[in-house]
Amino acid sequence: PGPPWPTALWNTIKFGQDPLSFARELRERYGDVVTLQTMMGPWTLVFHPDGVRHVVQENHQNYRKGGPSDQVLRVTLGNGLLTNNGESWLTQRRLIQPAFHRSRIAGFGQLMTEGATAWLEETQLDASDPLDVFQQMSGLTLTIVCKALFGADMLPYKQRVFEALGTAIRLEAQAFYMPGLLSLPTPQRHDLYKARDALYAVVDELIAGRKARATGSENDLLTMLLEARDAETGLGMNDLQLRDEVITLMVAGHETTSGALTWTLLLLSQHPEIDARLREAYTRVLSGRAVTIEDLPQLTFGRMVLEESMRLYPPAWVFGRQALAEDEIGGYRIAKGAFVLLFPAVTHRHPDFWEQPDVFDPERFAPERATGRHRFAYIPFGGGPRGCIGNQFALTEAQLILATILPRYQFRLLPGAKVIPEPLITLRPRGGLRMTAHRQDEL
Ligand code: HEM
Repeated sequence: PGPPWPTALWNTIKFGQDPLSFARELRERYGDVVTLQTMMGPWTLVFHPDGVRHVVQENHQNYRKGGPSDQVLRVTLGNGLLTNNGESWLTQRRLIQPAFHRSRIAGFGQLMTEGATAWLEETQLDASDPLDVFQQMSGLTLTIVCKALFGADMLPYKQRVFEALGTAIRLEAQAFYMPGLLSLPTPQRHDLYKARDALYAVVDELIAGRKARATGSENDLLTMLLEARDAETGLGMNDLQLRDEVITLMVAGHETTSGALTWTLLLLSQHPEIDARLREAYTRVLSGRAVTIEDLPQLTFGRMVLEESMRLYPPAWVFGRQALAEDEIGGYRIAKGAFVLLFPAVTHRHPDFWEQPDVFDPERFAPERATGRHRFAYIPFGGGPRGCIGNQFALTEAQLILATILPRYQFRLLPGAKVIPEPLITLRPRGGLRMTAHRQDEL
């Protein structure tokens, strides 16, 4: 309690400065459901897994996507799956879901491994020449998701796609904490809409090109989206909706995965014993040959490392909803229209659900220990009907990338480097993550 104006201003500044520490502090001081006055109205922060389950699953009909950060994302993602709501969302989810079926993802395995191998060849890693791992992994995951979407059509457009998307994401990230900037005729707004139009132009060309040339033998996501038909109405999606979906998959499908890879490489460099155990698993299972998707069931430790890394550094560190009607979470009243924020970054370190929550210990994700955990204490991909559609795609991709590059190179942090997590749209290392890559056979 207190005078609303200074409190709201104070909270907004604190949140903007360091949302992770602030949210964690709020949980420690006030508990599992905290309502915070901010300059953008009251926000309810829900940290307890039961509360998460309530919002994303049990009472999900009462919650829609919305809120200030959604407004920013909508500039590029429009009405795509991530930002859509209601009937339109459900229709689209049903149309798109089959493209992400496990069996379809398996078809992308080769493309993922080839992408990682090509990246190794192109970057010519050299121990004396540090590289920004976050930037590099972003380039690699964007290449992979674009190839999965457009197949070989992508190549002549790659540069344009990268430039337009890179600019749009950078500007959206800058506006993330100041969505108001985009409602006024500011230079930021002008630049963002210009980047958005460049992105529209190149994606429209790619879609038109595919429609004109379709041979019927393509096996990519775009073809699946073009051919998808609603089981009841027999209708597909119109061109504008298709464009929003394609851009959504490009955006949602690369920065998150590159974040997961970046944090994993950092954690491995900080935990040599885990790094050594992982390398030993690669040597045993692969003995020098390229990994395939069929190898993954034998490389469980790689998956455990990845899952633990996403626990400590969840790429989607926060996600939000707006309450359609009054509700109650954990005994607290949620007003109609209130913004509810869920914090994987805090829930994943909740001391009631994780022993020594700040310690990196992939053993937590050993298959035999999976049953003892609260299902909503670990939510890197969200949950319920609006959970990540690309989770299998991302997990497969990240495991294949690690299993391609780690048997050949070890990544080390530059001496004295300070790594500060920066929670923008995704959780990334502030200023990038500079590391050196050392050839495994020369260690
Ligand atoms: C939704 C995380 C990779 C596409 C989500 C949500 C989370 C998430 C937390 C739910 C957001 C909410 O409930 O508000 C991640 C992480 C990834 C990843 C951590 C990588 C490590 C991918 C990939 C794709 C993708 C590879 C596609 C190629 C989507 C889409 C949605 C979504 C379309 C919206 C689903 C809907 O609302 O129906 N993701 N994601 N994501 N993700 Fe992912």
